Amino acid sequence: MEKKANHFSGQIGFVLAAAGSAVGVGNLWRFPYLAAKDGGGLFLIVYLALVLTFGFTLLTSDIAIGRRTKKSAIGAYTQMHPNWKFLGILTFLVPVLIMTYYAVIGGWVTKYAVVYLTGAADAAAGDSYFTAFISSPVVYALLFMGITGFIVYRGIQGGIEAVSKWMMPILLVLVVVIAFYSLTISHTDENGQLRTGLQGLLYYLTPHVEGLTVSRFLQILLDAMSQLFFSLSVSMGIMITYGSYVKPEVNLNRAVNQIELFDTGVALFAGAMIVPAVFVFSGTEGMSAGPSLMFVSLPKVFAAMGGAGVVVGVLFFVTAIFATLTSCISVLESIVANCMEIFHTSRKKTVLVLSVIYLAASAVIALGYSLFYFQVTLPNGTSGQLLDLMDYISNSVMMPLIALLSTILIGWVRTPAFVIEEMESSGHTFRRKKIYIVMIRYIAPILMFILFLQSTGIL
Ligand code: PFF
Repeated sequence: MEKKANHFSGQIGFVLAAAGSAVGVGNLWRFPYLAAKDGGGLFLIVYLALVLTFGFTLLTSDIAIGRRTKKSAIGAYTQMHPNWKFLGILTFLVPVLIMTYYAVIGGWVTKYAVVYLTGAADAAAGDSYFTAFISSPVVYALLFMGITGFIVYRGIQGGIEAVSKWMMPILLVLVVVIAFYSLTISHTDENGQLRTGLQGLLYYLTPHVEGLTVSRFLQILLDAMSQLFFSLSVSMGIMITYGSYVKPEVNLNRAVNQIELFDTGVALFAGAMIVPAVFVFSGTEGMSAGPSLMFVSLPKVFAAMGGAGVVVGVLFFVTAIFATLTSCISVLESIVANCMEIFHTSRKKTVLVLSVIYLAASAVIALGYSLFYFQVTLPNGTSGQLLDLMDYISNSVMMPLIALLSTILIGWVRTPAFVIEEMESSGHTFRRKKIYIVMIRYIAPILMFILFLQSTGIL
């Protein structure tokens, strides 16, 4: 019984749970924005090329390390090389930081879903509504954190897998349905200009290469790269933890492909649903990223859709809840798993203690917009509040650094055989072995180094 509880039931359960982690707000509020900003189809081509090389390398490494060591980040890196325990600790700290604010985002999304469901959609379209809401009590963040804790408390198969198995297929259907709906809309603005969803789709898919310079191309490459590894949930120990729950007979080659396909597919459809909808009602200037896209621009678009907008709004925010919840679960699970290994405690006790800590942390971050409001200027030139600061430290500074260090550990200290042997241990061939070796030893370390310099503002 105990043994069964430590594994995903099989390939599908693992792939859906991992896809649940990978598909998150990044797919919904960052990917469409970057595609619109970085030359439409040009960004898509660059992103797809990176998924097949760079994303594949990092995802394969994390999952193979997890399954081979059967441990989470701290234990796994220590087992690979005792001197590299620090990398495990550094990796462990990423979900520790992300967990402080992810439930807060989940709380916002839940609140909006409730608003649309209860028919208060018009109020959500006003600019001040979002501001008023995020400075209001932390009830929704706490609710979201509580639900996350409850699911993780129920364990790998009974909690994480059980939830991912129905949420992820529904999420996929919802993004496809909304994307198709986006193509059918059209709108004439005050100047009498008609814009259609199909024009918006064309804008999204066409590679805009006019006036492209080398430095702009580099910027697009870096945008795509940082989006990619945030999106795949790699270099933060989450896929190591999930990998450690995969049974030995599962074909990891196929699992990696399916996770990438799921994550990238949802991102592409999210772009096809959001870019045309924003284009129709606000033109090419209307795109923004992050909370302001989801909680300011889109409610305006839904309001402009008339009656249908309420239905689309409900469907969209339910999609966003599924995306955020399955990601949030994976963040908590990886912290729980590391703690269970370090302190030799039971799952239930560990989840309870961590939930209490993170309920408090979520409350503090949620109050970062009122009680604890402050504004900082980050080294990359942008300014932000408490949540942005946490996000910046974890995603822009730590993740590229961890990815860089892990490519050195795998590529040069342990050699790629460590991962390759695991990929072939189920009796399947590792087809992209050559690309993997070149990527992990040469290309990925160089790219990660450049990304690290750029996102910390050094470059
Ligand atoms: N991969 C998720 C996304 O694209 O939104 C985000 C994410 C999930 C980040 C889990 C961090 C994390 F620990």
